[in-house]
Amino acid sequence: MSAVATIAQEVVRSQFPALQSGFVFFENAGGSQMPQCVIDAMTEYMQDSYVQTGVPYPASVRATKTFEAAHKFADVFVNADDVGECCFGPSTSVLISHLANAIRPTIKPGDQIIVSVANHEANINPWVRLEEVGAEIIFWDVDSETGESDLDELQGLLNERTRVVAIPHTSNLLGDTMPVKEIASMAHAVGAKSVVDGVAYASHAAIDVSDWGVDFYVYSTYKVYGPHMAVMFGRTDAWSDLVGPNHYFNQGGNASKFELGCQSYEGAAGILALQDYLALMAGDCGFDRNSVVKAFKLAKSMEIPVMEEILGFLNSRSDVRLIGSGGIDEDRHPTISFVHESKHSQEISDRVCEKGIGIRWGHVYSARLCEAMNIPAEMGVIRASGVHYNTVDEARRLTAALEAAMDA
Ligand SMILES: Cc1ncc(COP(=O)(O)O)c(C=O)c1O
Repeated sequence: MSAVATIAQEVVRSQFPALQSGFVFFENAGGSQMPQCVIDAMTEYMQDSYVQTGVPYPASVRATKTFEAAHKFADVFVNADDVGECCFGPSTSVLISHLANAIRPTIKPGDQIIVSVANHEANINPWVRLEEVGAEIIFWDVDSETGESDLDELQGLLNERTRVVAIPHTSNLLGDTMPVKEIASMAHAVGAKSVVDGVAYASHAAIDVSDWGVDFYVYSTYKVYGPHMAVMFGRTDAWSDLVGPNHYFNQGGNASKFELGCQSYEGAAGILALQDYLALMAGDCGFDRNSVVKAFKLAKSMEIPVMEEILGFLNSRSDVRLIGSGGIDEDRHPTISFVHESKHSQEISDRVCEKGIGIRWGHVYSARLCEAMNIPAEMGVIRASGVHYNTVDEARRLTAALEAAMDA
């Protein structure tokens, strides 16, 4: 790691109160920690502006402004530019369900929905339910050894009856990234919409929906250093015709028609405050789109040595099957899964957790992907997932604990 990245990592780590405890957080694909500025913004909101929006007294004016500014921040964060906008919701699972339910009345029997097997169930189940109205669900399979998805295979599945292509940007099990720009353009070529689950991507690299041309892009903010909420971007032309889950008199705005009921305004304050953290990482005085790009470039430079350490260790073990690619490149994120040839995933994971290192085992809601890769879903994988605030020292503690658990 460069000297700049090392210094930067000390600075960023000091922003996260949870990291000061000594516990090692390698379960970031499950949920990441919050920097102090996000915690403060949520606390201040609850102290000073904890009222309903849309009324002209001072606390409500503050609340309204915060909620609007949080939306603007999300638009910049994903680079929605002039192509669309973002709505908020309680979780990615809820937002994708809302989306599938909004598309439901437009489905004609025989319409096809292509669903990647590499998805978390959040981007599978809502589509499978559309079988009830005559949709045909076509699974885009993965290679059973490598977990890779073949674009030629996708091309063979696409036709004029395809309505939706539902894919993960990064698999929460493989850590590998799909070429979303190419896939969105392949979907558009047959008149289909792309729905991308960006949850396992969003904490590692800058989202750019304008460049990629995707129709819908969803991520969970609690995995991107923020509160338990989610953001869904929709292209204006993709969701302007849809009827959202909101009430009949609240169908006016593309984003607001998907924001059913009251939102977590204190959560929105936290989402907004992430701009201060990103600006700090970027070394900027103010925040703009460039801050997002610069912050994630730095984040990636911090993640790579951690990935090298963990993947290097796993690649050196002949009793381990790595799930996902073993190489290191920009498209490989530090969500690292594996299975042991003889020990149950739970045994290894529990032993590591006993040493003050948080990792996870199981199918991590990608049960279909496990099955497609011949991993029994009830055993699943052992998953260690890092983000930029994890250090090489922590990675060494992790690999030592893994080694002891495997050799026990
Ligand atoms: C890749 C991926 N997609 C979707 C989800 C579901 O997110 P949420 O809990 O916000 O519904 C998760 C959660 O772990 C995930 O990892």
